Amino acid sequence: MHLLPNKGQIKRKLYIESYGCQMNFSDSEIVASILSKEGYITTKDITSADLVFVNTCSIREKAEQTVRKRLEFYNSIKKSSNPRMLVGVLGCMAERLKEKFLEEEKLVNIVVGPDAYRDLPNIIKEVEDQKKSINVLLSLEETYADINPIRLNTNGVTAFVSITRGCDNMCTFCVVPYTRGRERSRDPESIIKECTGLFNSGYREITLLGQNVDSYLWYGGGPKKNFKKASIEARKKSVNFADLLEKVAQISSELRVRFSTSNPQDMTIDVIKKIAKYENICNYIHLPVQSGSTRILKLMRRGYDRKRYIQLIDNIKKLIPDCAISMDIIAGFCSETEKDHKDTLSLMDYVKYDFGYMFKYSERPNTPAARMEDDVDETIKQRRLVEIIEKQTKHSLINMKDKIGKTLKVLIEGISKKSNDEFYGRTTHNATVVFKKNNYNIGEYVMVKIIDCTSATLKGKIV
Ligand code: 5AD
Ligand code: SF4
Repeated sequence: MHLLPNKGQIKRKLYIESYGCQMNFSDSEIVASILSKEGYITTKDITSADLVFVNTCSIREKAEQTVRKRLEFYNSIKKSSNPRMLVGVLGCMAERLKEKFLEEEKLVNIVVGPDAYRDLPNIIKEVEDQKKSINVLLSLEETYADINPIRLNTNGVTAFVSITRGCDNMCTFCVVPYTRGRERSRDPESIIKECTGLFNSGYREITLLGQNVDSYLWYGGGPKKNFKKASIEARKKSVNFADLLEKVAQISSELRVRFSTSNPQDMTIDVIKKIAKYENICNYIHLPVQSGSTRILKLMRRGYDRKRYIQLIDNIKKLIPDCAISMDIIAGFCSETEKDHKDTLSLMDYVKYDFGYMFKYSERPNTPAARMEDDVDETIKQRRLVEIIEKQTKHSLINMKDKIGKTLKVLIEGISKKSNDEFYGRTTHNATVVFKKNNYNIGEYVMVKIIDCTSATLKGKIV
């Protein structure tokens, strides 16, 4: 059996599915690019695939269960209609479980962690010889800077560009530092080149991606921890996140720039000022708080307390009055009391987030929090989560209603799922708007008067 096609041979088909954060979706585009050089084309039909990859997430137990269910599904496909297909597990679960995956899941042939995708062609060759194969080495340098991602499921208008990999923050609840390794920044030149290329081929919005974008720092290579030891010359030429944001915004005023995710302990005033200065850097910041209780934040090792977080929010609102803010919150972290929970609710009342991602705490093996007692009763966790979600839905609705009557600039991203006569797009605040098409096209900016809303979507008409 020959899996790597030679030039001129029939192309092999890769089916790739991604779970978890945007970084994973972005990595799958890198994987597709690496394998395209080996003659693979991507397919959406799993029954005709030679190779099936699932790019996995370990952030919560539920995310891992989802992947296990998918593996069962692949198994049924393999048995019923595609006995030759090979199955590979990529990403965070591959990194976390390593060899165990091959032992536990008989169906899996390949296990590759987030820093080893360049090795995939070799690994596939090994599997040719009926061997199972694994590479879960993490790297201090790998950023895939030179790889031009193959855009999968693209609308041709919005794209994600990764700028850092890994995370050094070591929040006690989080598995990411173990699955994605140490933080490293990508060469700014390669970032600008990729963004310029995207703009020239019609893209109008770029989201700069990283586990912690605010700690982006480039000084000519090498891990960030060595920055202080770098030459004065290298330090003078260094590029931080505020600098990078500006460089990307200057590519064109017609190119929208977003970024994700910010860590409150690293976000600087300079970054906030750049958002205020450039109309095309969107007025939207995703600023995960996790908890409103200083005691819990300390146990989570977040590096800020309630007061400092509020100061940051005040600075944002002062410098960018029309800025939307969203959050992540974890309900029921170890030892969380009713008072801690009330602190979270009162912080939400203070900030009035536009949007939120809310979760129940899920203990992850081998994290520092796994050594604490996961002692909040499941029913209490659930009740607290519901209270947080209900509050957020109210706040989202208030923020959306506030936009009724206003005329907002919207980038058209695609045809509405509900009606062929309507487009959908987003405002600078990341709010989705649905409106009649008129004679416009996907990828154009239009001014839309907002006439109605739900807590999740605005309705409007082009003016
Ligand atoms: N349990 C629940 N939620 C978690 N997150 C990260 N780790 C955990 C965990 N162990 C949430 C955080 C983070 C988001 C990506 O996922 O809120 O910001
Ligand atoms: Fe999931 Fe975190 Fe890995 Fe992203 S980095 S895939 S959220 S575990």
